Amino acid sequence: MTGLEARTPLIIDTDPGIDDALAIMLAVASPEVEVLGMTAVAGNVGLDKTAPNLAALADLVGFAGPIGIGAAGPLWRQDTLPAWDVHGENGLGGYELPATERILEPALPLLARLIEGSERPVTVAAIGPLTNIAGLITHFPRAAARVARFVIMGGATLDRPGNTTPAAEFNIYYDPDAAARLFAFGSETGVPITMVGLNVTDHALVGPAHLPALFASDGPCAQMVGHIMANYATDRSGDGTAQHDAVALAAVIDPDILETRSLFVDVENIGRLTSGMTVVDHLGLSGNAPNCDVALSVDVARLRTLLNTRIAALDERLKEA
Ligand code: BDR
Ligand code: CA
Repeated sequence: MTGLEARTPLIIDTDPGIDDALAIMLAVASPEVEVLGMTAVAGNVGLDKTAPNLAALADLVGFAGPIGIGAAGPLWRQDTLPAWDVHGENGLGGYELPATERILEPALPLLARLIEGSERPVTVAAIGPLTNIAGLITHFPRAAARVARFVIMGGATLDRPGNTTPAAEFNIYYDPDAAARLFAFGSETGVPITMVGLNVTDHALVGPAHLPALFASDGPCAQMVGHIMANYATDRSGDGTAQHDAVALAAVIDPDILETRSLFVDVENIGRLTSGMTVVDHLGLSGNAPNCDVALSVDVARLRTLLNTRIAALDERLKEA
């Protein structure tokens, strides 16, 4: 990177969410990106919690830009539930952040304003259900078409089962119609999409042992991450928790961290057993042109180093502020 002008303009759409929290810390901590704003969507918990959680996280990491409040639920689905079992009743694993004084803006006009007001095309990292993104496409299509790339955490390749139903990953299952809208938009316009799915993020296991510099800092991020990892720390391998959303942000910060393949992706949004499944055309059988760079692997060691060094450095700055 040669200077600040090389920073990638970035918007984060999110449903915090314990892994969203680490992803936000990573993005705000990283000089390769300039976070222009962040918008909240319902998902892991209701919008009544994800929006204040996002604003409180912005305060925690010292992010001064605008925060938007978006969709309170899926476009049409009525039967999807939050993921309280994974993220706790408050969405942040029970960690209490001070209430914020911030005034939140309506998400869709904020997204459009930030995208259209940026001199350089903006990358949008969407790490929750895609309801706000579908709203942007419908109501502000010109702004949506200016996006440099949508990087989403969601879905999976067909060799990896879902985590919410046998066929579907949480973010896509929660609002499959919104996800289908984004992939159709990619086909219609050529706006690039990167799909960071469970086939990759399941391997992104991060635990306290991978974050020594962060815990040595003992700053505000370390304290929150320590709480989350102490309470939601282990998976079957004992290596830590899958940091799904941080992989998507890492892919914006350091694109070579992923191996991807350009493929056609659509979303099953009516299937009785398969609603929310991302159908990845691995063999080109559909006859449709590729509309997505599908992540096939991630350099987990590089991800752990990024999280450790970047958030530790942010914590040192926050302690001095
Ligand atoms: C995704 O769903 C949410 O629970 C996480 O925050 C992540 O975005 C993983 O399936
Ligand atoms: Ca999320």
